[in-house]
Amino acid sequence: MIERAVIEEVLARTDLPSLIGSYVTLKRAGTNLTGLCPFHSEKTPSFTVFTGSNSFYCFGCGAGGDAITFVRRMENLEYPDAIEVLAKRAGITVRHTVETAGGKKYDRRRFYDMNREAARFFHANLHKDTPNARAAMDYLREKRGLSAATITHFGLGYAPAEYGVFSDHMKSEGYTEQELIDGFLCGRSEKGRLYDAFRNRVMFPIIDLTGNIIAFGGRVMDDSLPKYKNSSDTPVFKKSRNLFALNFARTACAEQLILCEGYMDVIALHAAGFTNAVATLGTALTEEQARMISRYTKKVIISYDMDEAGRRAADRAVRMFSDVGVEVKLLKLQDAKDPDEYIKKFGADKFRRNLEESRTRFDYNFERILGAYDLNVPQEKVKALAGLCELISGFYSSAERDVYIATVAKKTEINPASIRRDVERLLAKQRKEYKTKENQKIRQSTAGLGDKINPDFVRNPSAARAEETVLGLMLMREELCSKATAPPYSLVQDDFFTAFGKKVFAFLTDGSENRQTDVNAVFSPEEVGRITQMRIRRMQLTENGENVFADSITILREAVAGQREKDAGITLKSLTDIINRRKDEQ
Ligand code: GTP
Ligand code: MN
Repeated sequence: MIERAVIEEVLARTDLPSLIGSYVTLKRAGTNLTGLCPFHSEKTPSFTVFTGSNSFYCFGCGAGGDAITFVRRMENLEYPDAIEVLAKRAGITVRHTVETAGGKKYDRRRFYDMNREAARFFHANLHKDTPNARAAMDYLREKRGLSAATITHFGLGYAPAEYGVFSDHMKSEGYTEQELIDGFLCGRSEKGRLYDAFRNRVMFPIIDLTGNIIAFGGRVMDDSLPKYKNSSDTPVFKKSRNLFALNFARTACAEQLILCEGYMDVIALHAAGFTNAVATLGTALTEEQARMISRYTKKVIISYDMDEAGRRAADRAVRMFSDVGVEVKLLKLQDAKDPDEYIKKFGADKFRRNLEESRTRFDYNFERILGAYDLNVPQEKVKALAGLCELISGFYSSAERDVYIATVAKKTEINPASIRRDVERLLAKQRKEYKTKENQKIRQSTAGLGDKINPDFVRNPSAARAEETVLGLMLMREELCSKATAPPYSLVQDDFFTAFGKKVFAFLTDGSENRQTDVNAVFSPEEVGRITQMRIRRMQLTENGENVFADSITILREAVAGQREKDAGITLKSLTDIINRRKDEQ
């Protein structure tokens, strides 16, 4: 939680046109500004910044809101992080409380400070003149080939082997046992003893986009298991939403980003000059991470491990990136298990050449399939061909398919025409399946499942529209929020038709002043977009004063009453049906 007053100050001190102007080229259009929407691709501007209300709205995709919503979407940040970014920009300090799973409340800064202190301790400990620390330093410098500069750049460290050394230090710095446990730096044994979570491991701090240390990964220096230990999710860390080294790579990856599996891969790549490399945090790529990456770059090169697990993970990642519209290529490294080893063996230049030649989806799978079968054995050749046809059928452009058909024909010495027939048969089958799926989608959307933000809308569009008019006017004119709940209107939540409408009404009338300030605290960016739409679409209605408000309440009440009767009628009818059926059965 961040105090309302702070949010108000942040919003007041943020000039929306100049904030948005740093991402989007804006042109004046009357009192407002327009530009190409950064949230969907378009050729003519439908993205508008309303200078009067300090809000933005895209008439094309429905994105909308205030400065906080903009930063949330643009930088893919959680609401509090977005405020922090804006606060920093405006030179304001923010106090922000987070809650642990156990219900304990903290100022978020406390976690960041605690992690920073821990990182400082680990880093200093690595440079100590003790046998253990020297062994850790040797491991990083000699065995892993890292320079002193790289160790400092990534803030690497060493967690002492002896029990309690770390936690004693942290306690002497004023951190409580509970804080250390909640931050995943310590744990408690079954007997109730505090123990250090990381012992005798080289430490990798994980840093978020605003420069805070949010978690750690720790690696053993021998073959013992588990090889890596990573922080669990804490109130300031979600591994599915962060990427290792994105804090460094974010400004270097516009052209292309290299995605790898391990911390060490990323560190080796950065040290070799590839500062556009990131890694997931010990898990498979998540949809959230793919979406996040798509906001920073349009091209990803996947450089996963050259084993079966890496290949499978790469296949999954390729699909996820295609879903978010990112061009993706796969890097195949010969005679090395991962990019770290490759660079060590063959050097940065050779890696760069590999990147330049990095193969497309076709080449990668083409070789993979050919490698898996012996084309001299007829049965295997048939299987290989089936796999290749399947692969080719996955490409949208027929020109592209023709190119690949020719490649396959040449390699397998099979007539291209018969390969094309097979591919086309597959395509026909896929189209049929696609159609069935699309039909399902249409059926679902008519049943209200398509409108994710307000699924009730389609059940009675006229009631829902009346509701949006009432809410839109309340959003436009603050004073209507207090008037709405008083006579003669006496609106209550139940007067509204959709669950979303009820929620917006409750939000606007909960008694706090200037409610719209923290719309981002209650609603998702997509919901804020919808709320902005309600307001923007009714903008011209306010010219007609309060009459239109009174009228739309009447319309809403009638529509909702009508719908209730209809619902009750159906219930009554189905009840009668049941009674009749019972009678028949007897
Ligand atoms: P080394 O080069 O051996 O240091 O490791 P790597 O960086 O090549 O890692 P590897 O390919 O073995 O694993 C990729 C990533 O998966 C690592 O960076 C870790 O984040 C994670 N990982 C690997 N082993 C473990 C493990 O035992 N436990 C957990 N939780 N994560 C692991
Ligand atoms: Mn490795």
